[in-house]
Amino acid sequence: MARGAQPVTVTQQTGQPAGHAVPGFGPPPGTALLSRNENPYGPSEKAVAAGCSATAQGAFYADRSLLYLVDMIAEKNNIPRDFISVSAGSGEGLCAAAQSWTRDGGAIAAPALFWDTTVRYAERQGAKLVTAPMKSDLNVDLDALEKIVDDSVSLVHITNPNNPTGRLLDPDELRAFILKVEGRATVLVDEAYNELTDDPEGSSMLDIVRDGKNVIVSRTFSKIYGMAGLRVGYLMARTDLTARIRSNIMSWISGPGLAAAIASYNDEAFLSESRAKILEGREMVVEAAQSLGLTTLPSQTNFVFMDVKGDADAFRDEMKRRRIFIRGAYQGLPTWSRVSMGRLEDLKRYVAALPAALEG
Ligand SMILES: Cc1ncc(COP(=O)(O)O)c(C=O)c1O
Repeated sequence: MARGAQPVTVTQQTGQPAGHAVPGFGPPPGTALLSRNENPYGPSEKAVAAGCSATAQGAFYADRSLLYLVDMIAEKNNIPRDFISVSAGSGEGLCAAAQSWTRDGGAIAAPALFWDTTVRYAERQGAKLVTAPMKSDLNVDLDALEKIVDDSVSLVHITNPNNPTGRLLDPDELRAFILKVEGRATVLVDEAYNELTDDPEGSSMLDIVRDGKNVIVSRTFSKIYGMAGLRVGYLMARTDLTARIRSNIMSWISGPGLAAAIASYNDEAFLSESRAKILEGREMVVEAAQSLGLTTLPSQTNFVFMDVKGDADAFRDEMKRRRIFIRGAYQGLPTWSRVSMGRLEDLKRYVAALPAALEG
């Protein structure tokens, strides 16, 4: 259980939660939830306390706290306030950008494999998606991507590090790519896992946001901050791009989420502790998989992508029988499986089940 979280007690007779606990939050009892790239070490104690106290002030709109968070983001990232759009998770900001950039018929260009949820949202509104094949090592092929950025494309969407591969692009190569194409289309770099990379600052494209290039960087409180259920994220881009994003943002951020974000944004002790546990779990999973002869991709995130050399859906089902939840196959990659870094005890269950689940 996350530090500071209240246990959900379920009464014997009714199966209903007792006291103030509410049903449906967190992993069901007895399960190892390793399918969604959440961070079970959050929220931080400070975030939980701030969120609770903001709940007590829940009668009031949280407008001043939003300005407070914007100030903190501006200061930490050395950008003006009007470069920042805060949204309900980065997902909302990414949907807003995808919708705004494609409203007039422009297409989105992306690699064949990326976290495409928000682009699919734009597709449902009529947007067109064009994709470039991946390299054989499942890294993003920037040359192939550049070739498909023609006049019909208004937005290029890259996830870095990528999901589901966990791979990080070489920052110099990505920067050079962006500088080549930003005259033709805006480049959106989703950096949801940036804080888990070996060199967060060096691997970010924020420097060219500061330079006023045609680029958007997104970040979230859902990953290293362990606040996926509290729904806070933000996009950073020069003023005119930010105005376009903001014009499509629909929600007013929830007060408890904002309070938790403010309380944990600069909590370095929590961040490094959280990161250390995630990396410890990642090392354990990679070692176990490799010792069984499986290929794992180098991950810079809180998940590992591995070739299980068999049907990844059947492998997922075998794990599920043991109440361990992981992802099934991705389109075009029937033998690749993704596992998220949950609590160490849950990862130990995964590692222990690995040989038998692979046998099927
Ligand atoms: C690459 C990437 N971006 C964004 C998100 C969504 O995050 P949020 O909770 O901030 O909407 C995810 C969630 O898994 C993700 O993997």
